[in-house]
Amino acid sequence: MDLAVKPVDKQAIAGAFGRAASKYDTVARLQQQTGEYLMELAQAENIGARVLDAGCGTGFFSARWKQQNKHVIALDLAAGMLSHARRQHAADYYLQGDIEHLGLAANSVDLCFSNLAVQWCNDLPCALQAFYRVTRPGGLIVFSTLAQGSLHELETAWGQVDNYRHTNQFLPQREITQACQPYRHKVILRQYCQHYPQLLPLLNSLKGIGATHLHHGRQQGLMTRKRLNALAEAYPRNNGHYPLSYHLVFGVIYCDK
Ligand SMILES: C[S@@+](CC[C@H](N)C(=O)[O-])C[C@H]1O[C@@H](n2cnc3c(N)ncnc32)[C@H](O)[C@@H]1O
Repeated sequence: MDLAVKPVDKQAIAGAFGRAASKYDTVARLQQQTGEYLMELAQAENIGARVLDAGCGTGFFSARWKQQNKHVIALDLAAGMLSHARRQHAADYYLQGDIEHLGLAANSVDLCFSNLAVQWCNDLPCALQAFYRVTRPGGLIVFSTLAQGSLHELETAWGQVDNYRHTNQFLPQREITQACQPYRHKVILRQYCQHYPQLLPLLNSLKGIGATHLHHGRQQGLMTRKRLNALAEAYPRNNGHYPLSYHLVFGVIYCDK
């Protein structure tokens, strides 16, 4: 098993999310919960009117900010996600772009909001630097991301079925905190656990949110009935349900420049 760190394939990520766009909002329960909490964190501060929703997906939270009379730029790598956001009139502007190469002017937004997108980037410090550059002095950055330990039930169960890695690796919480160190910041840790009555809906929910793109490539072949049964056999149960855990890190960065 080759676990060498390769740069992420952004075209493939954009493709996976673009394909998920039409069904995304019906299965993205976790994203909606974490995004609401991220909004609360931002609203606890004094924020201005210009909001960048970085890695906006379907524009679910762009629309939420627009309802609060904010002027919203929705930015995403995936053309399919952006078209969806545009059809919903979720934002004021739509930009196809990469968080790690933000094409926005320096100091051009008051709030940079990014819910569960930066775990798809190559380099978290680089993503945070980009957010910091485009946010005005006195402005705010709020982001959420997944940390090591997320999806551990799935990875452990797969470990009993074959020798391939079936989930992406997430940064340890310590490294996420370190990436915030150059700035005045606050980090909040939370765990979420979703329970599924069967394994297939659990796997489909990951597919439905486009989270099945693997940075190291997909080597394990087709999911046959036999493999699904073996996985279900190995998967831990909680009161008969299949749990799936997420370790969330929420970051608040104050732009004291
Ligand atoms: C899990 S979804 C979250 C979407 C949205 N923020 C929400 O809360 O529903 C992650 C989104 O980030 C986008 N994304 C991933 N890497 C990105 C990058 N480097 N730059 C911009 N967007 C990116 C994906 O295309 C996808 O739409």
